[in-house]
Amino acid sequence: MTSQTIPVDPFDFIVFGGTGDLAERKLLPALYHRQVAGQFSEPTQIIGASRSKLSDAQFRTFAHKALKDFVHEDELEKKQVDTFLARLSYITVDAVSGDGFDALKKKLGDSKCIRVFYMAVAPQLFGDISQHLRQHKLVTENSRIVVEKPIGRDLASATGLNDVIGQNFAEQQIFRIDHYLGKETVQNLMALRFGNALYEPLWNSALIDHVQITVAETVGLEDRVAYYDKAGALRDMVQNHMLQLLCLVAMEPPSSMDADAVRDEKLKVLNSLKRINGAEAPKATVRGQYKAGASATGAVKGYLDELGNKESRTETFVAIKAEVENWRWAGVPFYLRTGKRLSSRVSEIVIQFKQIPHNIFGEGAGNIKANQLVIRLQPDEGVKQFIMIKDPGPGGMRLRPISLDVSFADAFVGRNPDAYERLIMDVVRGNQTLFMRRDEVEAAWKWIDPILEAWEENRQDAQGYTAGTWGPSSAIALIERDGRTWHESE
Ligand code: BG6
Repeated sequence: MTSQTIPVDPFDFIVFGGTGDLAERKLLPALYHRQVAGQFSEPTQIIGASRSKLSDAQFRTFAHKALKDFVHEDELEKKQVDTFLARLSYITVDAVSGDGFDALKKKLGDSKCIRVFYMAVAPQLFGDISQHLRQHKLVTENSRIVVEKPIGRDLASATGLNDVIGQNFAEQQIFRIDHYLGKETVQNLMALRFGNALYEPLWNSALIDHVQITVAETVGLEDRVAYYDKAGALRDMVQNHMLQLLCLVAMEPPSSMDADAVRDEKLKVLNSLKRINGAEAPKATVRGQYKAGASATGAVKGYLDELGNKESRTETFVAIKAEVENWRWAGVPFYLRTGKRLSSRVSEIVIQFKQIPHNIFGEGAGNIKANQLVIRLQPDEGVKQFIMIKDPGPGGMRLRPISLDVSFADAFVGRNPDAYERLIMDVVRGNQTLFMRRDEVEAAWKWIDPILEAWEENRQDAQGYTAGTWGPSSAIALIERDGRTWHESE
């Protein structure tokens, strides 16, 4: 039995927003997979809660469809599906008035089981729901609350949200999800750094020239107009996912995988990020917005067209030159870029090592490329270490780069579990290592807020880029000004 299948104690899993998109696409399929993996102990129940008036049977029909749509048909075994559906029930609740919470209390009884309250709802409801849970004495010692991003849209609103949740749940009971931390390859970053003696001595400004973090998407707005146009790429991707990746690359080795040991180290990185103010923003940041162009599936509309030809200054692309001001990283820029409707879907981290200090081979040996470690987060997950070797054959010493290549798909058999599977089970187990602590979220906003303010102050507009390209040309200039280039992520 692998650690992935060690059964957890029985639990009651209550999904607020139980009939929403997240429940349908991610939570119900993830729970199903964990049941199939043998991780549930009985009695475990899953309760959908939302404003819609549904019967248990109707909720089961909804869940059944979610499984059919989002679980591979080879993995849908009738017996497992029946068992899964039998553990589902539904309750109608009104998050604002509190109607339905008495019924929820009755349903849960005085069970001492682990209770997970999952907020798959808009953040405006986090406060009301957590208050009703407390007032109805539903928050037991064994309860946890899970909140999804966005946690605020700036420091003030994030603090407000954290305060209101914190009035009803202790910090050890609050699980703030960043689904990037649940990705296998992101956890592999920690395995690579701290499970090998090889890299750590090289992991600093003496040998590393710079770091690139790219999270590129080919999708556009995807029916999320209302949310996305108010958020933009900086809030949607950088404040959370990208900064978490940066933290995992830059943090000092924690003393253990204990939640606070890891999070203390990440917090130090966030607090060491150099603030980007009004004068620096035009040099250190680039905002872009996609125009009509092409994607793999054909012609696509521009962002404004997708919005219905409204005016909008929202960025769908951002590139930033970030700097971590501490001994380890002084002088090593971290170039971040993320965007929608880019050329291909790829997330990767590139550790660019420095050039060799002296070339003994002379000009005939060709161009000696500095070593590169490319950690591919998705798709084609794996790690490539580029090194120089001698071109085989007689005729002198010619060098060329090759990659030592580990493809996770080739190295390991079996299904790559979705991030939510790992994260949900960690919530049940009460393990917060892969969840963001309050001070981390707030420290991230402390770095993001001045950038947002600088953009407003400077009226720094989003530059147009054609859908299907790598973003505005100024993003290329951002790195090339420093004599460096973006890694070609194809
Ligand atoms: C979400 C963002 O957090 O992450 C989306 O809100 C984005 O805009 C998504 O598309 C990307 O996640 P993944 O797992 O597809 O890389």
